[in-house]
Amino acid sequence: MGNGAWKMVLASRSGPALFSHRAPRMLPDSTHPILQSPFSLPRPMPRLSSDPIEIHDDFAVGFSHRLLFTRSVFESANPLLEDVLRIDAAAPRPGMVAVVDAGLADATPGLLDAIAHRFGNDTLPELRDAITVRGGEDAKNDPGVVDLVLGAVERHRIDRRSSIMVVGGGAVIDAVGYAASIAHRGVRLLRVASTVLGQLDAAIGVKNGVNRFGKKNFVGCFDVPTAVICDEAMLATLPDRHWRSGFSEAVKIACLKDPAFLDLMDRDAERIRDRDLDTARPVIRRCAELHLHHITRGGDPFERNEARPLDFGHWAAHRLESLSGFDVAHGEAVSIGIALDTLYSALDGRLADATATRIVDLLHRLGLPIHHELLHDDRLLDGLEEFREHLGGRLTVTLLEDIGRPVEVHEMDRSRVQAAADRLRVHADR
Ligand SMILES: NC(=O)c1ccc[n+]([C@@H]2O[C@H](COP(=O)([O-])OP(=O)(O)OC[C@H]3O[C@@H](n4cnc5c(N)ncnc54)[C@H](O)[C@@H]3O)[C@@H](O)[C@H]2O)c1
Ligand SMILES: [Zn+2]
Repeated sequence: MGNGAWKMVLASRSGPALFSHRAPRMLPDSTHPILQSPFSLPRPMPRLSSDPIEIHDDFAVGFSHRLLFTRSVFESANPLLEDVLRIDAAAPRPGMVAVVDAGLADATPGLLDAIAHRFGNDTLPELRDAITVRGGEDAKNDPGVVDLVLGAVERHRIDRRSSIMVVGGGAVIDAVGYAASIAHRGVRLLRVASTVLGQLDAAIGVKNGVNRFGKKNFVGCFDVPTAVICDEAMLATLPDRHWRSGFSEAVKIACLKDPAFLDLMDRDAERIRDRDLDTARPVIRRCAELHLHHITRGGDPFERNEARPLDFGHWAAHRLESLSGFDVAHGEAVSIGIALDTLYSALDGRLADATATRIVDLLHRLGLPIHHELLHDDRLLDGLEEFREHLGGRLTVTLLEDIGRPVEVHEMDRSRVQAAADRLRVHADR
């Protein structure tokens, strides 16, 4: 995948499959020995030449990215799993290992039994094991989780036609997805997202990864899951903090892409914060849809370009998470990071003050943090270099000119970042 000439294009189910093909280039010397078939008649040896020889073909791989919303996916009456894990009756029954977020399992007595019962039916893969792993950022910080999943793949003979089903929050999905992608160079992965952030963002991303050296997502890969299932019933047990934190990513994508979506959240902020599911449901679905379309139609699913617009607010967020020893949850850190880059955009003269205040107020009304003392720590700005290194090339940070009008910049002024942090401290104290 390192060859820039390869093009892989995600195909959304609803949209046309996009393929890119460049005609093979003519070779400079068709009599070169490596081009001769072993069965061809002997020919005179070609003149030695220092011309480089290149064999070059572009090719494309089509993907489908399936996102499904449901309630109570493991109830016997729910047929969704049969649709998603369609098995070939003529072939041997494939296997499956379920890996479940322990935070979810603890909050949902009977969940593991329900999974075992649901997969007792031979219309689905054979469940060979169901294991739990610690939820939250621990899942990405502890290398043992990847090993545990790899061990289960080996022990239960999970091959490439079999699957791992991961059920949980974004962190467990990231870590288990990484293990599934490297086992046998990739076994099938079904993601069942159990948090708001998972359902509207993390589980939809085509990224897997774990943290190393205290750095977020330092090890990881791009891969597309078999499907992503968002089970609304699972959200009922989420602690308030994790319910709210997911909506920072919805504010982010609305700021980048959809002013009407921001209006909707502005109108309903308190009801969303207070867990009114009927109000939150369309927000979660709209955000998930925008995210999926960004991946399938945005032209850069595997982030080859230097700009990564969906990472608005994330340079500071990732740094805050690691500086706080992961006490600050990802969604909370994203809220603070968005607030910081929004005020920075205003101080930089790009964004109207009133629009910046509106965005920061919205985050606050959603019950999200907008400030942390670590914003004033000198080490925060090291996050810019870490962010650059992760993407490669020039530093590229997304700022805002207006809602729905992001802009990329290649440097950040230290004193302006500090001024934005100072303003947030005042704003948060109000
Ligand atoms: N791969 C991507 O594209 C992508 C995108 C955004 C975020 N992420 C990652 O996602 C992670 C954050 O995910 P998150 O916000 O879902 O939080 P999380 O995975 O850290 O989970 C938060 C807590 O909720 C618990 N939990 C999960 N589901 C529960 C439920 N239904 N009921 C009760 N408790 C439950 C977990 O055990 C954990 O303690 C970060 O590591 C972030 O980097 C990845
Ligand atoms: Zn994020």
